[in-house]
Amino acid sequence: MPSQATSLYPTSFGRPSKIAVIGAGAVGTAVAYAAAIRGDARDIALYDINAEKVRAEALDIAHGIQFTPCGSVVGSDDIEVVRASDLVIVTAGAKQSPGQSRLELAESTVKLMEKVVPALQEVAPDAVYMFVTNPVDIVTYVAQKISGLPASQVFGSGTVLDTSRLRYLVSQETGVATQNIHAYVAGEHGDSEVPLWSSAEIGNVPLTQWGTTLSGRVFGRDLRDEIAHEVVNSAYTIIDGKGATNYAIGLAASRIAGAVLRDEARVLTISTLLNDWHGISDVCMAAPTIVGRSGAGRVLVPPVTDDERQGLQQSAEKLREVARSFGY
Ligand code: 2OP
Repeated sequence: MPSQATSLYPTSFGRPSKIAVIGAGAVGTAVAYAAAIRGDARDIALYDINAEKVRAEALDIAHGIQFTPCGSVVGSDDIEVVRASDLVIVTAGAKQSPGQSRLELAESTVKLMEKVVPALQEVAPDAVYMFVTNPVDIVTYVAQKISGLPASQVFGSGTVLDTSRLRYLVSQETGVATQNIHAYVAGEHGDSEVPLWSSAEIGNVPLTQWGTTLSGRVFGRDLRDEIAHEVVNSAYTIIDGKGATNYAIGLAASRIAGAVLRDEARVLTISTLLNDWHGISDVCMAAPTIVGRSGAGRVLVPPVTDDERQGLQQSAEKLREVARSFGY
């Protein structure tokens, strides 16, 4: 029996896979760097209109390839570098100024997507598309409309980062590893997001039954609201201090990329087109979704309280209002 050729890289696409990262700014380079370290794709292409910068960023990562499972990292201002990618991760766009909301970036990023999405489809028509550019829910919805691709093939990073922030804060409060904090943030990746506290568990203990935390408190309304406020405001705090967030979103996006390229069927709160999800339809926003080779799969419907449902519906209405204001 001839031995199956084994590959260092996931071959769920029948061959070692390729990621393209669009935008060589703080976020795009963090995504490329994290993806190189994770080794989910053999080849990483970085595209940006700034030729000198994108080549330098790619070269700076490529010089470290020996220390990663990655096979190649190239950067170019020629969109041909994106050709035949299995997964395209779009990070290009404006970044928030201190105190600026993500939704306030919508006008410039919608115009940018109207140019970028068709150009990307020319060179990578069969790729799965993940949008990270903010406001990610609006950008994802607009990109789906522009591309005409199946909704599963075009999704956003959603609240995977916010969910990670929530798990980090609960872990700090309890001393339990983040990997055992089963809690999700859903809705807008932004000010109207909703922590799904009612279905949160620590290990297999419902969070609200955890008992006393390391700070001597219980997960009552006050502590939950304090943590939720810190999650929603994390980005503003970091932007005030260093001008942008990039490391955690880079890790989050490359984690999602791994779920696609390794066909992992992981549950992640990506932003996807919802259809009668807790009564919410025709909007892209984050919900726990099974992520695999074809992108966004089944959307899970966790039990929610009336307050959580109301918050999710308000989040959806806000996003729909913004998308409609740009004609989508
Ligand atoms: C973040 O949440 C700015 O959306 C980015 O870090």
